Amino acid sequence: HEAHLTIDPAFRVAPVRRRTFGTFVEHLGRCVYTGIYEPGHPTADADGFRRDVLDLTRELGVSTVRYPGGNFVSGYRWEDGIGPVAERPRRLDLAWHSTETNEVGVDEFVRWCRKAGVEPMMALNLGTRGIAEALDLLEYCNHPSGTTLSDLRIANGAKEPHGIRMWCLGNEMDGTWQTGHKTAREYGRLAAETARAMRTMDGELELVACGSSSSSMPTFGAWEATVLEETYDVVDYVSCHAYYEEKDGDLASFLACSTDMEYFISSVVATADSVGARLKSRKKINLSFDEWNVWYLSRFQAAEPPRDWPVAPPLLEDHYHLADAVAFGGLLITLLRNSDRVTSASLAQLVNVIAPIMTSPGGSAWKQTTFHPFAQASRHAAGDVLRVETTSPSHDTKEYGEVPLLHAVATHSGDETVIFAVNRSTDEPLSLEIDARSLGGVRIVEATTLSGPDVYARNTAEAPDTVAPRPNPDIQHDPLRVLLPPVSWNVIRLG
Ligand code: AHR
Repeated sequence: HEAHLTIDPAFRVAPVRRRTFGTFVEHLGRCVYTGIYEPGHPTADADGFRRDVLDLTRELGVSTVRYPGGNFVSGYRWEDGIGPVAERPRRLDLAWHSTETNEVGVDEFVRWCRKAGVEPMMALNLGTRGIAEALDLLEYCNHPSGTTLSDLRIANGAKEPHGIRMWCLGNEMDGTWQTGHKTAREYGRLAAETARAMRTMDGELELVACGSSSSSMPTFGAWEATVLEETYDVVDYVSCHAYYEEKDGDLASFLACSTDMEYFISSVVATADSVGARLKSRKKINLSFDEWNVWYLSRFQAAEPPRDWPVAPPLLEDHYHLADAVAFGGLLITLLRNSDRVTSASLAQLVNVIAPIMTSPGGSAWKQTTFHPFAQASRHAAGDVLRVETTSPSHDTKEYGEVPLLHAVATHSGDETVIFAVNRSTDEPLSLEIDARSLGGVRIVEATTLSGPDVYARNTAEAPDTVAPRPNPDIQHDPLRVLLPPVSWNVIRLG
């Protein structure tokens, strides 16, 4: 198979947004406890944070981290997580049928963020709670001092305000599984009033209204339209959530799952812009794709929920293989391609729970296959995102019809241009010819590929480097040509 790609710095989409490389830490399973936090672990620091996880978080190149949920947040009382740890209540967590010990709360999380060098992104409970509690949390976090709540934060050890700019107005309120699920109109009114009041307290906020939990929700499209009718003037973003998995051994469809993500993004952009037009507004609402990943949700749904109420049980611990990482890379390419309107995203999640980083309690931390596309894109995507003009053979898929085998995007900064490309073919390499005449006489500085003979190969704690990017030996400089193996994620650096 032969494909062709033309690259030109004039084909600019938008700047690379650092927030594309956000992730998510939820009080779910072992994401917090024995994930980021494990006092007593050999690498734990004075605050009980695992240094090995902090190191891997930095290596992953994470920008923002959404917290504390997810479904968890819709029953959460933030006050439970502040003050002396020994006095914090234990609560039932209805979302995950677990017991929450509240050893980690907002102050610990912000401290962890500072150590990891990431920006916190806070989600509010608009399920069981409302405007007053949202305002209290905002005052506690962001008001400098001189009020009961801000002085309480100082008394709890945080002299400086947390300065949290991004706030999610609830989580997945369109889902019947959500505690306090609402209709679009009910939620839109509550989100608008919460946003208005929050902005009165803090003029620097960036607020995210809940969009749809997936493009297959029965209310998809209509939900966004109604919510934005209510909130258009007072929010900056509408959220999107999407998870994909290989179903019934249909690898070709799975590798093309970014087709659904493209549809999701273009549909939400069109819906948001049509609301803007009806409101005669020149403002544009951007998209916060604040949950995305490969998740074997059907397996989770088929499993029995925990019978008792365990503390930090292993939940949603998907073990990713090479093909998962390639599908995942395709989703990243789609997020980058849409950087004009998707200006924030969060990979769900960071540690143990459908995560690129895994830990053993008391033991090691290691990289799943999906760690690599994320880390490489975060490290090498810089400057501007470029649209690439491609010609590619295509194949037929059960779920998405005819799809091109090549899925690609490029970024360009100064002397360096980087191509991120997936070959979706399940069995054939793709010979990619690159027309880079507009860049002058560039050469391939580095080409790596994440691929291999066994597309279901996985990393483990014992063999953490089984699936990792390797130098691609099949490159040619005149003309520029790279052979992309079947089922592969590729990074090609030109300079
Ligand atoms: O990320 C796992 C869960 O997926 C989140 O808690 C929820 O928001 C979504 O349904």
